[in-house]
Amino acid sequence: MRITLIHGPNLNLLGTRETEIYGRDSYEDINKKIKQKALANDMEVRIFQSNHEGEIIDAIQEAKVGSDGLIINPGAFTHYSYAIRDAITAVRLPTIEVHLTNVFAREEFRHRSVISPVVAGQIVGLGTLVYLLALDAIKQIIEQNHR
Ligand code: DQA
Repeated sequence: MRITLIHGPNLNLLGTRETEIYGRDSYEDINKKIKQKALANDMEVRIFQSNHEGEIIDAIQEAKVGSDGLIINPGAFTHYSYAIRDAITAVRLPTIEVHLTNVFAREEFRHRSVISPVVAGQIVGLGTLVYLLALDAIKQIIEQNHR
């Protein structure tokens, strides 16, 4: 089982960026935990990060070839990128949207996700754990689809 995991803009700064909000786990620490968890779950995970909308769209389109599912933290694009939403709809891969922070407890502009209507589900507010739970969730969804 192959998964593409996409980190959106500014997530490469994790560990140094607003640590009171995003925690102290660095971007590298988080990816290490994701890879360990994937290995333990017998999954292969391709991790991609970009600060650029078009590159994220390219990565979603590329996931169509060879990936069984998608996990995405679109960062601030969550709140306004119809282009990323359309890309997710287009590839028809099971997709989980994740956010490290509880976006509903933050500024009002973060309460709206234009991505949520086109994904299987959303996991928010649990810090690094959101990525690990998303791996469990996507695995079960893909296995159910193949039954
Ligand atoms: C985020 C929440 C977004 O509102 C914000 O722009 C981010 C990170 C999160 O993981 O909590 O960059 O997606």
